[in-house]
Amino acid sequence: MPDRAMKELRKFVVPEVIVGTDARLLAGRYVAHFGARRVMVVTDSQVVDQPWFTGIIDSIRQLDKEVELFTDVTENPKDYEVMLGSELFLANECDLIVAVGGGSPMDCAKGIGIVSTNGGHILDYEGVDEVHLPGPPLICIPTTAGTSADVSQFAIIVDTQTHVKKAIISKKVVPDLALIDPVPLLTMPPYLTACTGMDALTHAIEAAVSNARSELTDVHALEAVHLVTENLEAAVQPERTLGTMRNMMMGSLHAGFAFSNASLGAVHALAHSLGGLLDLAHGECNGILLEHLIFLNYPHAVSQFQHLSRQMKLPMEAANDDQLRRQLVQAVSALRQRVGIPDTLPAVTVTPGQIDKMAESALQDPCMVTNPKKLTKAEVVTIYEKLFHPQG
Ligand SMILES: [Fe+2]
Repeated sequence: MPDRAMKELRKFVVPEVIVGTDARLLAGRYVAHFGARRVMVVTDSQVVDQPWFTGIIDSIRQLDKEVELFTDVTENPKDYEVMLGSELFLANECDLIVAVGGGSPMDCAKGIGIVSTNGGHILDYEGVDEVHLPGPPLICIPTTAGTSADVSQFAIIVDTQTHVKKAIISKKVVPDLALIDPVPLLTMPPYLTACTGMDALTHAIEAAVSNARSELTDVHALEAVHLVTENLEAAVQPERTLGTMRNMMMGSLHAGFAFSNASLGAVHALAHSLGGLLDLAHGECNGILLEHLIFLNYPHAVSQFQHLSRQMKLPMEAANDDQLRRQLVQAVSALRQRVGIPDTLPAVTVTPGQIDKMAESALQDPCMVTNPKKLTKAEVVTIYEKLFHPQG
């Protein structure tokens, strides 16, 4: 039965996407298609050491294009990294960006594109539709199966003055091309695979219950839940196959199509605040938070959560809403445990003041707007406290 969300106008924006083994090696050909002469490759210091990386650079240089390598990107990309990259982009007269890596290099590359074209400071563009001019052509080559920055309208940048992650949400940051190649996933450490996989699952679940979801986003969200829950456990094993990693990459891609257009929810709002203040891995934060928000949100999106449960092949017969709610929470919790993500952050100490600050900024996060339940500050504080002071 169509609900109110389904009757409203919805848009659906995705970039050109090429999927398949060795798709990354098409980078050079597409640089030529865009007519670029000098390419800034934005990546990080781990990616450049990977065996599959040189083929990307070679594919560009073989076509007589110059390459400026920018690797000064850290996990949770910082505002000053974006500003430095923009200076170098302009100083070297680059005319196209290729981002290679997980969410951090891709978000940093989006920021570099924004500032090099629009001027000012990257944080001037925080919020929804604040970017006026499109940046230079952007080709993304994701090397993790989770972030989906390669297809999304989001760029998340840390404000290093306040240690808060700022969301820039705009059609102008959707890349021009995503080369979706499973080969880089085979060298991902298992814990990174687990965290990025839980990030993808969170994207799919939050998109599926978002107040801004649509028929188009639902299709992708549900397929993503199926692919990620079927493959994540195998993806963290030493004997993982290219086929398994391709399924994870496709799961992440479908989740990206869904959340980029339906937006996200409270898991990401709380994760941005948590990861920004304490500089924690984004996927780890989502993985730890997800089950708590499913429990709180369930009564506010019952039919959508039941669709998700069916995608996870959970038994639906002879169970009431409360039993189905607990069953879904337990299934997500069990998956998190099986892939090695903890349920708390015991090594991290926080003060009540920091929890209060995190709760305040989570409530202000743009992702909170589309959460099916309007959370109170007390509820947010209670969730954060469980991460640091488990109740047994
Ligand atoms: Fe995410």
